[in-house]
Amino acid sequence: TSIVEWKRSDAYHNSFLIPKDEVIEGILKNNANNRLPDIAVSTAQGKFLNLLVRTLGAKRVLEIGTLGGFSTVWFARGLPVDGKIISLELSTKCAKVAQENINSAGLSDKVEIIVGPAAESLAKLEPAFDIVFIDADKPSNVIYYKEAKRLVRKGGVIIIDNTVWAGLVASPEHTDPKIEGIRSLLEVMKGDPDVDATTIGTVGEKGYDGFTYAIRN
Ligand code: DHB
Ligand code: MG
Repeated sequence: TSIVEWKRSDAYHNSFLIPKDEVIEGILKNNANNRLPDIAVSTAQGKFLNLLVRTLGAKRVLEIGTLGGFSTVWFARGLPVDGKIISLELSTKCAKVAQENINSAGLSDKVEIIVGPAAESLAKLEPAFDIVFIDADKPSNVIYYKEAKRLVRKGGVIIIDNTVWAGLVASPEHTDPKIEGIRSLLEVMKGDPDVDATTIGTVGEKGYDGFTYAIRN
């Protein structure tokens, strides 16, 4: 099955379950116009993150890696009036585009973007968050995971994006630093009594990938 068919499959399912959304379409357009890489979560995955916020009744979400704020908006939309998402972004350009998107979505009261190296921003944050979403530079995944464990509440959720990477994480001949970053994270998570976790492989408009979902013990 080719990516064309997986795009069609996501579009098919979305047509039943996710209403046409001019704000979301506008964000995707703005991100493309600003030449941001097309690596945000898919619309179906964004909706999943939104459902997760509402399932947990989350009020505080932490996102590592804002990019154009696509997942940020899906998270923020699920928050109650007194909810907040903090999103960490290295690139001033990405943060600027993301802020435009958040403003156009009418969510500026619920989102705070912190620009700078995430490891430095994380060190200044205090618990507790209900959800931490790790979706930034993969070689730093272990640093982000350790900070996520410090910052998330007991029973809260840590999600790490891209942990399947078209199956290449499990393929020993691939030694790309991104893939090694995911492997290092899995090594740290192995037998870690602080979490209970599973990896869920996904396929859709972004092709084959997956995420690791962990509950903080
Ligand atoms: C890349 C990063 C991501 O977070 C993603 O979802 C897909 C691709 C990348 O670095 O190529
Ligand atoms: Mg990602």
